[in-house]
Amino acid sequence: MNPDLHKIISSILPHTQPRKQAGQAYAPANIALCKYWGKRQESLKLPLTGSLSISLAQLGTHMRIELSETDQLIINDEAQDIRGKAATRLFEFLSLFRAPDTHFKIKSLNTIPMAAGLASSASAFASAVNALNDLYQWELSAQQRSILARIGSGSASRSIYQGFVEWHRGEQADGMDSFAERLDTEWPDFRIGILTLSDAKKTVGSSEGMQRTIESSTLFESWPAQVDKDLPVIRQAIRDQDFDTLGKTAEQNALSMHATMISAWPPVLYWRPESVATLHQVHQLRQQGLSVYATMDAGPNVKLLFKEKTRNELLQAFPGLQVVEPFSA
Ligand code: PMV
Repeated sequence: MNPDLHKIISSILPHTQPRKQAGQAYAPANIALCKYWGKRQESLKLPLTGSLSISLAQLGTHMRIELSETDQLIINDEAQDIRGKAATRLFEFLSLFRAPDTHFKIKSLNTIPMAAGLASSASAFASAVNALNDLYQWELSAQQRSILARIGSGSASRSIYQGFVEWHRGEQADGMDSFAERLDTEWPDFRIGILTLSDAKKTVGSSEGMQRTIESSTLFESWPAQVDKDLPVIRQAIRDQDFDTLGKTAEQNALSMHATMISAWPPVLYWRPESVATLHQVHQLRQQGLSVYATMDAGPNVKLLFKEKTRNELLQAFPGLQVVEPFSA
C-alpha cells in the first residue's frame, strides 16, 4: 500500500473488524458548477484547485456491502466481471479498508440513468465509504468520509452531502485539509436538467484526461486562474440567490475547462455534434429571454441550470429533459 495512503487511513479509522454482516448507504451524484480538472498529487487525489457542486438529490447510488466468501459486484441486478475495469477500481479502493482475508459482495443500484454517463464514480465511491462506515460502525464525521471518498475519486468528496457543496483544495501534503463541506444555502426553486444526448462510451477517463491536459495543453496554464476568479463569484451568487450570475459563471467555467481539454494532444474532446447543437439551442433560448445555462463534464451530455418558473418552456424545447429538484425533501 502507498505509505501516504496508509498513514492517512490509519489516522482516520479506528482499528476495527466488521461489526455487522452487511452495511448499506446512499450517496447522490453531483454536478460541478465550478469544475475540478487536474490533480497536484495523484494517489491521494489532491486537486490543483477548489471546486463547487450541486448534488442531485435522489439521483445517485445505493450500495450494500455484505461479508462474503468471494468478491462479487452486482450493479443494477447484473453481475459484473470482477476483473473488469470498474470492479478492479472499486475493490482496490475497498481493499484499503479491509483485512486481507475479508471478501465483499457488493450490490449497487444506480438511480441515475447509466446511459447518461452520469452514473459517475462520485456517487459510487461516496456510497461505498458510507456503506463501509455502516458495516464497521466507524461513526466517522462527514468531513472524514469526504476525505476517504476523495481517495476513491476526487469528485466523490462532494457526494457525501446534498445541496451546494464546496471541495477545498487544501494545502497539506497529507490531504487532511482537502475535503468538501456543504454550503448552508437552500435554493428551493433551483433546478438541474439532464439531457441524455449520446450513450457513446466514454473514450478517455477523467484521470487520464486530466493528466493529458496538464502535460500537453498550453491553455491549461490559465485554468487555476480561471477557477480563482470563478469560485468566489459562484459562492457569492449562491448566497445572494443571483441566478444569472451563477449560471453565466458556471457555463463559462465549464467551457473554459473544455477549452483546455480540447487543446490537449491527443485532444480530449468529449463533445458530440448533439452536444454542440444543444449549446447553440441554449444560447438561442437565452437570446429569446429565457434564463437557462449549460454545463458539461467528461462526456457528451449537457446539463441545464434553470429555475422552476422556466421548466415548462424548457420541457417544450427539450422533450427528453429530466428535471432534478436538488432541494426536494
Ligand atoms: O472525480 P473525477 O475523476 O470523476 O473527475 C470529475 C471531473 C469533472 O466531472 C469533469 C468535473 C467535476 O468537478 O466533477
